[in-house]
Amino acid sequence: MKVAATAGTDQALSPVPLMQLTTGFWAFKTLAAAHDLDLFSRLSGTAGTTSAELAETLGIHPRPADMLLTGCAALGLLARTNGRYVNSPLAEEFLVRGKPYDFGGWVEMLDRRLYPAWGKLTDGIRTNRPITWDPDRQSSLFDGEDPELLAVFWEAMHSLSTFTARTLGTAVDLSGTRRLLDVGGGSAAFDIELCRQHPGLTATVFELPMVCEIAARKIKEAGLAERIQTTAGDFFADPSLPAGHDTILLSMILHDWAEDDCRSILGKCWEALPGGGQVIISELLVNDERTGPPAAAMMSLNMLVETEGRNYTPAEYRRWLDDLGFQDTRTVWFEAAGANGAVVGRKP
Ligand SMILES: C[S@@+](CC[C@H](N)C(=O)[O-])C[C@H]1O[C@@H](n2cnc3c(N)ncnc32)[C@H](O)[C@@H]1O
Repeated sequence: MKVAATAGTDQALSPVPLMQLTTGFWAFKTLAAAHDLDLFSRLSGTAGTTSAELAETLGIHPRPADMLLTGCAALGLLARTNGRYVNSPLAEEFLVRGKPYDFGGWVEMLDRRLYPAWGKLTDGIRTNRPITWDPDRQSSLFDGEDPELLAVFWEAMHSLSTFTARTLGTAVDLSGTRRLLDVGGGSAAFDIELCRQHPGLTATVFELPMVCEIAARKIKEAGLAERIQTTAGDFFADPSLPAGHDTILLSMILHDWAEDDCRSILGKCWEALPGGGQVIISELLVNDERTGPPAAAMMSLNMLVETEGRNYTPAEYRRWLDDLGFQDTRTVWFEAAGANGAVVGRKP
């Protein structure tokens, strides 16, 4: 993704990296169209397809069927064996509907919601205003019950967060945690995954009322209703967060908000934690030099499109935690789709 890959070397500069950057959306739209046409779910568990067979199944012309299959193979989403296209391991694991780590909700949200909005990115840069909602009519992205948002946003977050939670659970020490409070826990993806990893753990999802309903459904489907509860609330309007938890998780929460709001949320976490309790901030962290990494820097621009926040650096989070009195603040790095690390602090 880095354009200046050849800078500082003897190699002559070439526009090839720019060609790759400019055509990035071709690759995404190929994936999105294949997902929209249910290609990967159709191929799962079958002996694969030829372009003629796909044309017949979808009722489309053989020309685009051939081009779509070739495109997906080129992107590593399909493989070709004995003249037939089958799912690659990546597509089979993450793009088949209903599989435990189905990433399709994220693909769908990017296609339906963020792709059109990113078409107006220059407007966002010029005006410092979000693109997917109107700040003159709403207080935030989450204000109101937009049916389109309800249909895709939390399903997308669930797709993204399930696997991120699995990685965070192995990277961050939760051995001393008995009760987890997941502030703005969305669809409960983290709680479900972390409770599966840690049999002694119970969790509370603190969320806006309409999202609690989504979380409760996911918790029930996971068979974890005995161990994960939902509490409806608002981390700005409510004077305090629920007490009685020894770890508080903030996953992809603080990047939605400006610094003052982040400090206010963290202050309520401090108040709600007992001595010895810890707070975990899980995000795609921008490095302290503010030069990347690309996934975090691009997510930060996505926060321009969707919110009034941005992706912050570990130094910023640690300063806010230190100011509140948290101790042993540190960054734990890992690699996941929805986070590249967590900043952790302990209340003395
Ligand atoms: C980007 S999502 C992250 C969801 C989840 N933590 C995850 O990582 O999958 C942000 C979440 O914050 C919740 N949220 C926004 N404003 C809130 C508020 N005032 N009180 C409680 N939750 C809120 C939203 O409903 C949404 O689920």
